[in-house]
Amino acid sequence: MKKSPSYYTQELREFGEVLRGRRTINLFLQTPVPDGLIMEAVEAATWAPNHHVTEPWHFYLLGRETIDACLGLVRAICTEKKGDAKAGEHKAKSWSEKPGWILITCRTSADELRQQEDYAACCAATQNFMLYLWKAGVGSKWTTGDITRDARFFEIIGIDPDEEFVVSLLWYGYPKMTPTQSRQPTDKALTKLP
Ligand SMILES: Cc1cc2nc3c(=O)[nH]c(=O)nc-3n(C[C@H](O)[C@H](O)[C@H](O)COP(=O)(O)O)c2cc1C
Repeated sequence: MKKSPSYYTQELREFGEVLRGRRTINLFLQTPVPDGLIMEAVEAATWAPNHHVTEPWHFYLLGRETIDACLGLVRAICTEKKGDAKAGEHKAKSWSEKPGWILITCRTSADELRQQEDYAACCAATQNFMLYLWKAGVGSKWTTGDITRDARFFEIIGIDPDEEFVVSLLWYGYPKMTPTQSRQPTDKALTKLP
């Protein structure tokens, strides 16, 4: 009988290390990430699977002026929510230490199934983006905090909430600290059927 080919190559091992090793990064160095790398990561992100090839995503790379407006907004949102200006100040300061900001939106659809599938595709694109950066030594954090649903945020970015909704606000940069994480054993996530 012919032996099945070995699948366990060096490339596969390294690929697995990227998938398992990527961590959500909270603390970043201030070393700038080249824009060229971000462009490549966006291009790689768009190769995510998407049903009917709808390509429902859009990427917004935020510049200094837009980031500053977001910092003002997060200060206001947090102060309003907690009723405490100090809490708002603290949050804005922590967000001001995030070096790179990119937003991924999804096109809205009146068709419920299309909407769900398009959202799934945008999540896959987000993961592609994060993994591409990770392989280049750049960490990121996916956030869906209050700001991503606030009408004032849509105004700052210049998007129409009837046309697009936010899938992920991502911060990226070279990690200052990489946290550890764990997952349940695979047999908890997998059921083999006869
Ligand atoms: C859809 C989505 C939204 C998330 N939003 C937040 C968030 O608002 N704040 C946060 O601290 N982490 C957020 N995360 C990151 C998760 O907390 C993180 O993935 C989780 O702790 C596992 O860590 P790991 O990414 O290092 O494996 C989000 C992740 C996903 C997929």
